[in-house]
Amino acid sequence: MVSGKAPVIGTGLDQELSIFEAEDKPPEAYVDLLACKSQSPSHWLDACIHTECTFHQLSPYIGKLKSTIAKDLVMRYSKPGDVVVDPFSGSGTIPLEAALLDRKVIAYDVSLYAMTLTRGKLEAPTEVDDALLIANELMMEAEKNPLPDLRRVPKWVRTFFHSRTLKKTFRFAKVVRESEQFFYIVMSSRNIAPSASRISFLPKQSSCTVFT
Ligand SMILES: C[S@@+](CC[C@H](N)C(=O)[O-])C[C@H]1O[C@@H](n2cnc3c(N)ncnc32)[C@H](O)[C@@H]1O
Repeated sequence: MVSGKAPVIGTGLDQELSIFEAEDKPPEAYVDLLACKSQSPSHWLDACIHTECTFHQLSPYIGKLKSTIAKDLVMRYSKPGDVVVDPFSGSGTIPLEAALLDRKVIAYDVSLYAMTLTRGKLEAPTEVDDALLIANELMMEAEKNPLPDLRRVPKWVRTFFHSRTLKKTFRFAKVVRESEQFFYIVMSSRNIAPSASRISFLPKQSSCTVFT
């Protein structure tokens, strides 16, 4: 993260980082490490699902950071107006918290899915009315196109969904992909398949750096 001045708040991180300094040497065995008493802030252990921005739950991501930790780190190492850079953005936890805290964001990830999810969160409509309006426009646009042929879709996906639901979803996905509406790209692919299969829904353009 690019920082103007640090630190701006105390979160207990100082104690955590000094955990090994208090010892003569770091634990050598994994079991000894597990036995170390964590001195991380107690609220980092709490569930944040009902207190965090709901965009954090837009779609699953393995290895995702807790939003409370991301928020504390952004607040600690940057101030409003600073640029926060996350070159391993993953699901965009740090970029989203940084944007919510009025930081500018540069995010990157080698994974197409990660970049799409990050862009989906950063570029999402902030008002429900706006979100519905855009969704409506996209659906009307989608309905102008013929329903797609499902023969190239893996059989297990076809078994799981009613063919009409699947056809309409693919048709909608095509329109959002072409219009580069990343929030809707994520929304239209999240329920169809686990991340390995999501790739076929995604545009090549999403594999790029995101600037806000
Ligand atoms: C642990 S995840 C980051 C999780 C993220 N903090 C979050 O909360 O979702 C690490 C990320 O680094 C990305 N990554 C790994 N090697 C990379 C590389 N050489 N360049 C860019 N991204 C890379 C992976 O695709 C993965 O999304």
